Amino acid sequence: MGPRLIGDETALWAAAARVLDANWTGAATVPSPGLYPHQWSWDSAFTGIGLAHHRPDRAETELLSLFRGQWATGLVPHIVFSSTEPRRAYFPGPELWLSAAQPAAPRGVDTSGLTQPPLQALTALHVVRATGGADRSFLTSLYPCLVAQHAYLARDRDIGGSGLVSLCHPWESGLDDSPAWDPPLTAVDPHGAAYAGGDHDRYVTLVAGMRAAGYRAEYLRDDHPFVIEDPLFNAVYLASTHALAELADLAGADPRPHREAAERIHDALLERLWDGSAGCFRARDLRTGRLIRETTVAGFAPLLDPELPDEIVRSLADLLLSAHFAGAAGYPVPTCDIQSEAFDRGAYWRGPTWVNTNWLLWAGARAHGLSTVADLLFGSTVRLVRQSGFREYFDPFDGSGRGSHDFSWSAALVLDLLAARRAP
Ligand code: GLC
Repeated sequence: MGPRLIGDETALWAAAARVLDANWTGAATVPSPGLYPHQWSWDSAFTGIGLAHHRPDRAETELLSLFRGQWATGLVPHIVFSSTEPRRAYFPGPELWLSAAQPAAPRGVDTSGLTQPPLQALTALHVVRATGGADRSFLTSLYPCLVAQHAYLARDRDIGGSGLVSLCHPWESGLDDSPAWDPPLTAVDPHGAAYAGGDHDRYVTLVAGMRAAGYRAEYLRDDHPFVIEDPLFNAVYLASTHALAELADLAGADPRPHREAAERIHDALLERLWDGSAGCFRARDLRTGRLIRETTVAGFAPLLDPELPDEIVRSLADLLLSAHFAGAAGYPVPTCDIQSEAFDRGAYWRGPTWVNTNWLLWAGARAHGLSTVADLLFGSTVRLVRQSGFREYFDPFDGSGRGSHDFSWSAALVLDLLAARRAP
């Protein structure tokens, strides 16, 4: 079942649905068979957006199952480990985080101690719209968990006191190896050895510091060496805060605190992360106080802000279409500025095109009426999966597939793209 589609879009729809069915475990969808055998928080949220069209009942189960891993602080961990997989099926496994030793962590389920972009409220809104709110108990169960998730971010993670959430690890960004993290990771090394992606030691050092401090907010605020305000994380946070206000209305709760929070995040994004001289958003390193120079795909995510001023929307569209990004790639959008020294067409999050970042930018472009950009992103994404399958990521020049096969969010988000173009 699905929307009425034109021509071979029907086959694409069926192929995407097959991937989601195959990756369904009964309670959640693994990101891909084999490589990623557990539940990841933003993967689940992206997957839920597609499941809302294909199997809304599963989308509900997927979200509720993710929140089994929520900590008493409200933290939604970025990995909820499956208890049936061998403990060494994925590194880093439960032994790195030792969540069972944390009083705030849930009992009976192992989790990580980091979070990821909080897309879940937005997914929940998609699901509620798809079902027409038929399952009242879904909203009643999930709404307080979403409120607690956002309260945690505002209370424990607004480290700069600006209204924005700070990342405390590159893995919290979702764009793990982004070249934007090279300078702050260079500073994490006691000898200042330059960082250029893929060095697990520094990732583990950062986790060890957090774990030793019981993942406490005071440690993150006062002593942790990696503290970054990121435009993509915060744009997702803002979009989900708006979604939370709508969910509050539907749940019979007060939407005003969420509307006020959204206003604060909007103001802070512009004040803290907009670089007017370069015409783009950048991440801010709170330990140096400076904006990080690297321009990445994350800088376009504030298009998700419905109140983004027109001149900024135009400036982002110009940069996106320029030879720094889409203008010089056959299969946009590359993760990083093609003209940057750090750009690498094949390296994880340092050049390739991903379906999830394309989808976020497509959603933002559509909402701002940027039809040229939205059509380009739609066309590029559909061509990529037609040509190379539902791969994890793609070469931005020739569109060849890389990383895992049958990757869940690549399939799920294509369902959402196709659904938006459904025939009348
Ligand atoms: C990698 C990605 C992250 C994703 C995870 C599971 O860690 O960088 O964004 O959530 O894999 O797919």
